[in-house]
Amino acid sequence: MRIVVGVGGGIAAYKAAELVRALSQRGHDVQVVMTKGAQEFIQPLTFAALTGRKVITGLFSQSSSQDTLSSAVEHIAVAKDNELLVVAPATADLLAKFAVGLADDFLSTLYLAFTGKVVLSPAMNTAMWEHPATQANLETLRKRGCSIVDPDEGWLACGVTGTGRLPDPVRIADHVDMLAHTKTDFTGEVVLVTAGPTQEALDPVRYISNRSSGKMGYALAAAAARRGARVILISGPVNLPVPPHVQIISIKTAQEMRNAVFAHLEETTIILKSAAVADYYVAHIPEQKRKKTATRLSLELDPTPDILAELGQKKGDRLLIGFAAETENLMEEARRKMNIKKCDMLVANLVNTSGLGFESDRNEVEILSRSGQTVHAGPADKNEIAERILDQVAMLRLNLRAVDATA
Ligand code: CTP
Repeated sequence: MRIVVGVGGGIAAYKAAELVRALSQRGHDVQVVMTKGAQEFIQPLTFAALTGRKVITGLFSQSSSQDTLSSAVEHIAVAKDNELLVVAPATADLLAKFAVGLADDFLSTLYLAFTGKVVLSPAMNTAMWEHPATQANLETLRKRGCSIVDPDEGWLACGVTGTGRLPDPVRIADHVDMLAHTKTDFTGEVVLVTAGPTQEALDPVRYISNRSSGKMGYALAAAAARRGARVILISGPVNLPVPPHVQIISIKTAQEMRNAVFAHLEETTIILKSAAVADYYVAHIPEQKRKKTATRLSLELDPTPDILAELGQKKGDRLLIGFAAETENLMEEARRKMNIKKCDMLVANLVNTSGLGFESDRNEVEILSRSGQTVHAGPADKNEIAERILDQVAMLRLNLRAVDATA
């Protein structure tokens, strides 16, 4: 892919060299654009050596007296020639410029002229990252379809520990690769994804829930939308941005999730049931807050509806993909759940492996199908795992169509 790497003026600019090297090594054709600030942190020569190309350092930087016209429209030529723009580090200043459409240097002018995919990898001090202005700019850019690589948490050059570190360049390169390989094999499908936990009220101020972050479900919704599907995302309470071009339905309880799923079943062709649904709810919710006493409290819990099992009965010829988060006997439990809930495929993972699964950005899964085949994916970023799951769904759909055709 032909990629422009825009380097902003932050201390993390030095990491952009690693990113450029990773992208070049993966076979991409990379053109580097540096802001004036970036050149204070790292020399253009580093990038020129890594890419074998002249680095663009300003709106009129390439100009010679005879060449003024071509240099004046160079941002248009670069915009036309490239398919993806990745900005790392995307400073607070760059995010603000992109969000309002300011065009006072090469990178911001290129952003406006660019019609391909845009990846932004913000990096800055935690307070700047958390500032409502930065978050509002980010939200604007996200809604506009920019793909954001969230910054990491950790030690920052300003001496504090918090969110704002530029992620490992390999992770940014993985993200770029994921977008670079976008397929359109889900065009015409209506994919219903359930994600996140459910919350079952104990009283007006308390609830029972679980540690699901919703990240796997949101990654699946984003990937299905990128691959051409119309996506309906039914989500429990999570702290995640809604992926571009995805219809969101927010619910709290298992019963609300069940109702939302069945309200949209008719139009759906593929169901990805990744939510961590509570198995029980409190039978009698008091109208007022439960008061503390010195004695043991027992709660009476009733089972919630098993949405996946009900879907297994009513799905018709829709593809039904269940999920299972286990702490032991992964494969046995996965196979048992796939069979009793009548899923076409089931994605199983262990949730007690540190750094993977619940609350994590990464996952490692087994993808089981009814044919008896099992495919392993990961450990990898949840976006990458989502692509692998969709690859298996696409393959299953193809096989089923082939069977139908010969029947
Ligand atoms: N599921 C569901 N409705 C429920 C419980 C689970 O739709 N009330 C779905 C989940 O979305 C997931 C699958 O069933 O796709 C498996 O969920 P999991 O919690 O692993 O299994 P359970 O059947 O609840 O079994 P257990 O908690 O005993 O492991």
